[in-house]
Amino acid sequence: MTILWTRRHILSLADFTPEEYNAVLQTALSFREVLGRRTKKVPALQGQVVANLFFEPSTRTRNSFELAAKRLSADILNFAPGTSSLTKGETILDTAKTHLAMGTNMMVIRHQQAGVPLAIATELDRLGAKVSVLNAGDGQHEHPSQALLDLFTLCTLINSEEPRLEQLQGKKIAIVGDILHSRVARSNLWSLTAAAAEVHLAAPPSLLPQEFSFYGRERPGRLILHWELDPALENADFVMALRLQRERMTDHLLPSLREYHQRYGITHERLQQCQPGVKILHPGPVNRGVEISSELMDDPDFSLIAQQVTSGIAVRMALLYLIAGGEKA
Ligand code: NCD
Repeated sequence: MTILWTRRHILSLADFTPEEYNAVLQTALSFREVLGRRTKKVPALQGQVVANLFFEPSTRTRNSFELAAKRLSADILNFAPGTSSLTKGETILDTAKTHLAMGTNMMVIRHQQAGVPLAIATELDRLGAKVSVLNAGDGQHEHPSQALLDLFTLCTLINSEEPRLEQLQGKKIAIVGDILHSRVARSNLWSLTAAAAEVHLAAPPSLLPQEFSFYGRERPGRLILHWELDPALENADFVMALRLQRERMTDHLLPSLREYHQRYGITHERLQQCQPGVKILHPGPVNRGVEISSELMDDPDFSLIAQQVTSGIAVRMALLYLIAGGEKA
C-alpha cells in the first residue's frame, strides 16, 4: 500500500488528518520490524544531514532522534547551546542558517519558548530552502513526536500487527498531572480527540484551567475536565501521568509534593477502579513517588513507560523518513 505524504514540516498536530496519523503508524510499524532484525539499519536517508538543535535539556527525545537518524543511515549533527556560538551572541535564526549552509536537510528543534520551530521554518521557507523542521518540544505549546509515539504505543497494544487511529475510538483515557505546563498533553489532546477517544483530564485547579475544554471543540472525541482524580480513573482503559514541571512553576501552584501524591498520585490501589488490564503511560522524566508510586512505575503488568521509549525510535524513524519524501517503508 502506497503512503501519500505531503507535509514537509511537523510543527503541530492541530491540523493532522486521520490519513496522516495512519501513515505514521504504518510506517513506524515497518521500522519496528527493522529494529527487531540483527542488522538494525536501512540506507533510506544515506547522504542526508539531520541537525539536532536542542536549546533546552533533553535525554530521551534527543537520543531517540539521534538513534532514529543513525538507523536510517543519515549523518547527524548534535548541538549543545552551552558550547555553541550562541554564547558569543549568535541568534537562533543565524544558528539555523549556519546549519542550512552546511547542507542540513532536516532540523529537529527543541526550545523553551513556544513558536521557535515555527519561526525557523517560516524563515527557511522564505529563503526558499527545501529544509524540513521537526518540532521536538517548544515551551508549553506542542511535542508532536511524543504524542505520536504515545499513539503508536497504545494502538500497537490493541493490535500489534495493524495499528490504526480508529482503534482508540470510545476508549477512556485519563491524563493526570501538570496539564497547564505540558506540551505533551496539548499534542496528545489533538491526536486523542482526532481518534474519537474519550479523554478525561484530572489535576488540581491551578494546573488545569477551564480553557482546556477548547481542545475538544468540534473534534470527533470527547474531552472532560475533572479537579478530582477518581472520576477520571473510573473505568479508564489507559492512564497517562504527567510530570510536575517545577522548573516552569513560577508561582506557588501546589501545596506540597506529598499532598499532591495523596490526592493525584497514581497507585495500584487507585487503579482498581479502572478497567481490568488498565495500562499507565508517562512521557518521562518521572518524579518517582510523586506522579506515580515507585512500585507501580516498576510493575511491568501495568507500566508502558519502557515501551514508550522503545516505540519512540521507530516513530521518529517514520517521521524523518516521511518528511524526507519517502513514499513506502
Ligand atoms: C517531556 C518534555 O520534555 O516535554 N519529556 C519528553 O520529551 N519525554 C515531558 C516533561 O518534561 O515532563
